[in-house]
Amino acid sequence: MIMNAQPLLFTPISLRGVTVRNRVVVSPMCQYLSVDGGPTDWHLVHLGRFAMGGAGIVFSEDSVVAADGRTTHRCAGMYDDRLIPQYRRITDFIKALGAVPAVQIGHTGRSASTRGPLDGFALLTENDAAQGFAPWPPVSVSAEPPRASGPNPRVLDHDDIRDLVQAFAEAAKRAAEAGYEICEIHGGHGYLIHQFLSEGSNRRDDGYGGDLAGRMRFALEVVEAVRAAWPDDKPLFFRVSAVEGKGGSWGMRDSLQLGRELLARGVDVIDCSSGGIGGSSTLDAVPRVPGFQTSYARRIRQALGCTTMAVGGIRDGHQAERILAEGSADLIAVATETMLDPNWAVRAARALGVDDYYSLLPRHHAFRVKRRDDQFKAYPPGSAVAIPYEIDQSEPYRWGD
Ligand SMILES: Cc1cc2nc3c(=O)[nH]c(=O)nc-3n(C[C@H](O)[C@H](O)[C@H](O)COP(=O)(O)O)c2cc1C
Repeated sequence: MIMNAQPLLFTPISLRGVTVRNRVVVSPMCQYLSVDGGPTDWHLVHLGRFAMGGAGIVFSEDSVVAADGRTTHRCAGMYDDRLIPQYRRITDFIKALGAVPAVQIGHTGRSASTRGPLDGFALLTENDAAQGFAPWPPVSVSAEPPRASGPNPRVLDHDDIRDLVQAFAEAAKRAAEAGYEICEIHGGHGYLIHQFLSEGSNRRDDGYGGDLAGRMRFALEVVEAVRAAWPDDKPLFFRVSAVEGKGGSWGMRDSLQLGRELLARGVDVIDCSSGGIGGSSTLDAVPRVPGFQTSYARRIRQALGCTTMAVGGIRDGHQAERILAEGSADLIAVATETMLDPNWAVRAARALGVDDYYSLLPRHHAFRVKRRDDQFKAYPPGSAVAIPYEIDQSEPYRWGD
């Protein structure tokens, strides 16, 4: 068990001009509850509670750069200026609570035009159209659909690719205007950028396919355009599927090559995930054990000497602290556990022995929690407590009794 007065997990980190109070990152989590691409009260509460719960960085979900880049009608977007004030409400709130608002931008490519996860991402049909949720034609790097029964995506030509690169840049500009401090490009999980990267989906022979350099071209053009549009003093992250897993074609050697090119173009953090091509984006390609992707973050960090983010199966503060202490990553992203406990960061700080873990809470909560800790100091959790007297409710309580 690691107990430091200043655990690594609660040591601030500076990335370009942005200083983050600790290394706890709430990973992007699609909610499938946006309306016309925009966030609602749901998102304010969903994201706001992580900022209230002490996280250093709070990521908004994958927000797509073009309307046809949504997976479902209810996916989040960053493709229209009208969305800027809607996100601004969320970023203001997160900042007021001491956390750093971050956003992931992406494009689903051939995985578009489905229902949500509770319906197994079933393809939209004419029945859905009758309810106002019409299917639309997906686009991708090549004509192969992600699943045998799906429609063939329309193959992007060079004009489309140029427009999409521009759309990524425009989305990054909107994100900055909306108050986001960190932007992450979603390059993994079987979505459009990954569809270009992987031999499993990229069948092109026109300079955007073939060898690794060709398959990386779209990703790198996007990075260059986003880096130019995104303010210099704000960090840029890139999420990669470091390996595709069983039966996949993209592996660690490719990720290291890609990583080198990303760093040369001003990416600040490589966010190391896995999986995606060959079916559902949540395909269980890498066996799900605690910390199942941490070794990818370590390999990339050590080989490239860069800043990495570990994600996947990270459950508690001690596990997170070990990942940092062994030099596997600089940031710890947590998704599922934060749904169970939005105060994950505060609890981790307490478990790791941070004396002033109260300071991660909103002031009015901190005051009460500290008072309770002081009152109960003599009673560690689990101790048997004899109630000193029965309170007689029939008599008014008098001070000094
Ligand atoms: C509800 C939910 C939605 C997710 N949406 C996204 C997303 O928008 N973008 C992304 O890159 N990953 C997404 N993920 C993956 C997580 O960011 C994270 O990488 C993954 O869940 C592993 O972390 P965990 O074991 O802490 O859950 C999502 C995960 C969950 C549980």
